[in-house]
Amino acid sequence: MCGIIGYIGKEDSLPILIKGLKALEYRGYDSAGVVVLVDNKFEISKSVGQVKELEKLLKNKKSLNSHIGIGHTRWATHGAPSKSNSHPHYDCLNRVFVVHNGIIENYKELKRYLKKNGHKFKSETDTEIIPHLIESFLKKGKDFETALFYTLELIKGTYALAVIDVNNPEILYAAKLSSPLVIGVGNNENFLASDSSALIGRTKNVIYLNDGEIAKISKKNISIYNLKKKKIPLEIVSLEWNLEQAQKGDFPHFMLKEIFEGPEVVRSTYQGRINTKDGSVKLGGLEKVFDKLKKVKRILILACGTSYYAGLVGEYLFEEIAKIPTEVHFASEFRYRDKPFEKGTVVIAISQSGETADTLAALQKAKDNRLMTLGIVNTVGSTISRETIAGVYNHAGPEIGVASTKAFLSQITVLILMTMYLSTDKKLLKIISKELEKIPEKIEKILKQSKKIEKLAEKYKNYENFLFLGRRYNYPVALEGALKLKEVSYIHSEGYCAGEMKHGPIAMISPDFPTMAIVPQNGISKKMFSNLEEIKARKGPIFAIATEGDKEISSLANDVFFIPKTIELLEPLLTIIPLQLFAYYIGIKRGYDVDKPRNLAKSVTVE
Ligand code: F6R
Repeated sequence: MCGIIGYIGKEDSLPILIKGLKALEYRGYDSAGVVVLVDNKFEISKSVGQVKELEKLLKNKKSLNSHIGIGHTRWATHGAPSKSNSHPHYDCLNRVFVVHNGIIENYKELKRYLKKNGHKFKSETDTEIIPHLIESFLKKGKDFETALFYTLELIKGTYALAVIDVNNPEILYAAKLSSPLVIGVGNNENFLASDSSALIGRTKNVIYLNDGEIAKISKKNISIYNLKKKKIPLEIVSLEWNLEQAQKGDFPHFMLKEIFEGPEVVRSTYQGRINTKDGSVKLGGLEKVFDKLKKVKRILILACGTSYYAGLVGEYLFEEIAKIPTEVHFASEFRYRDKPFEKGTVVIAISQSGETADTLAALQKAKDNRLMTLGIVNTVGSTISRETIAGVYNHAGPEIGVASTKAFLSQITVLILMTMYLSTDKKLLKIISKELEKIPEKIEKILKQSKKIEKLAEKYKNYENFLFLGRRYNYPVALEGALKLKEVSYIHSEGYCAGEMKHGPIAMISPDFPTMAIVPQNGISKKMFSNLEEIKARKGPIFAIATEGDKEISSLANDVFFIPKTIELLEPLLTIIPLQLFAYYIGIKRGYDVDKPRNLAKSVTVE
C-alpha cells in the first residue's frame, strides 16, 4: 500500500524517481507525486491517477536538474484520491517534505493540537501532521534531526517515511516502523524504496531498514540510528533478482507473463531441494529447526488472500502426507482470536510480499505465545522473512501483477516440499518427486492451449455471476479461481466446495449463473459428477476443467478444458492455470487494466 522512492546522487533525480514509482505502482495507483530540491528551492508535482499522469504533467515542465528528490504513489486510506491528498506533504514554511506509507493512528489529536497552534492543513491525510510536527520543533529552535526524532517519538501507528529539508539538499532522511523500506546503496548515489524491485537496474546492494530505525543518507554516506540516536552497524545485502524478471518483455501484461512463468517457477522452487531418485528433500532454511519440526504436534498456517488459499492446499498436504493435524487461519481473524495454544505447535506464515500487515500481526501474536514461527515468503529480506526463526523462500522472482498468480504456484510447491520433508513414507515420497518433476512440462502443455481459454473467455465474458466448485485439493483452487475472476474482471464469483452446494448456493443456479467445475479424474470425481448433475438439471451452464481422456464429462458440461493427468495432491499446480488464464482473458475482454485492478494494491501494509 503506497510506494515510496527517494534519490540522492549525481544524476538528475526526476527520471529516476518516475522510473522507481512505476516499478512501485503495484502498491497503489490512485495518485502520485514528487518533490525535488535545487539550491534551497523546491519543485513539487502531483497528479490524480496512475504514474503516467504525473509523467505527462512533468513533460510540460522544465526540469530543474535536481540531485535529490522523493516520490510517492498512493493507495488512499485517509481522504479520497485527489491532488491535495496526494504526497509529498509539507509544512507551513514549505521547508519540510514528507512521503509516507502506513497509518498514523493518533493523527487526529496531533492535528487538533497543531491547528490550535496556527498550523494550516491542505489535505485530509494522516501524513500531513508529520511535516507540521517537524516544523513545530524547528520553530522551537531544534535542529532538523532532533525535530525528526522528536516527531517520531510522538506519532503512533505504522510508517515508512522519506523526508527532505529544503534548507539542506545534501541529506535524505528515512524512518521505518512496520512498513517496508529499503536503502539502495550505489556508487556516489543512494536510493530509498518501499521494495527492492524499484532498484533493479540501478543497484544490487541494499540495506533493509528495521523497525525503529532512522537513516541519514547523503550521496556518499549512509548512517542508521535507532530511536535513542545510537548508531547501528550497516548490513549490506546483495539482491538476486535481475532486470528481465521485473519487465514485461514481449507480454502485454505482467499478469500474463507471470502465468506463463509457471513451469519455470515450479522448477526453480523444487530444483536443488529434491532428490528425484529417492524423493528425499533438503530445505536449507529449515535445517536448524529440523529436530524440533520432527516432533511437531500441530501446524497453524496464517496468511491472507491467495496465500491463504495456498495454505488451505497445505492443510490437506500436511494432514494426508505428513499426518500432522493442521489448521489454516485468515491472519486478520487470528490476530483478534482468543485461542488456546497447544505446546508443540508450529506456525507457518505464508506471504508473497512478506509485508502484509495482518500476517505480520498474527505472526507477532504467535511469537508472543512462544510458538515456533516459520515463513514461506517470496520477497527476500522482507519483514516476515526476518521475523520468523526459519523458513523457505519461494524463488518465484518478483511478482508485479497485482493479482497473484505465479506466487500461488510457488507457495503450493513449497508446501509440497515441506510436507515431503516431514513425511517418512519413502514409497510415497518417490512417487511424489517423480510426478513433481513432470509438472513443469504439463503446465507448458496447458499454456500452449491458452487460445482455447481465450475463446471460452469470449463466450463467458458477459455473465455477471460465476460459481467455482472443487473438492478436496481442488476446493482451495475453486476459491482462488473465483478470487482471480472477481479481482481482474469485477464479475461476482464465489468459490465453494462442491458438496456444500446443495446446502444453499444451488438456489442461485439458473441459465444466467454459470459454474466453473474443477473435476479432474481422481478419487472424488464421481462425487463431483453428481454435484454437476444437480446443476445441469437446473439448466446452469457448466464449464469444466477435466483430465485428458475423460469421456463422461462432455455429456455433463457445456464446455470442457482438458489438462494432463497427475496425482491428486499435485493437481492444484495444473488446475489453477486455466483458471488464471480465464480470469486474465475475461478481464482484458471487458476492457480492464488487469495489472492494476481498481481499489487493489499488491502489498497490503495497512490493517
Ligand atoms: C490476490 C492477492 C492477495 C494477496 C494477499 C496476501 O491476487 O494478491 O489476496 O494474496 O494480499 O498478500 P501476501 O501474499 O503478500 O501476504
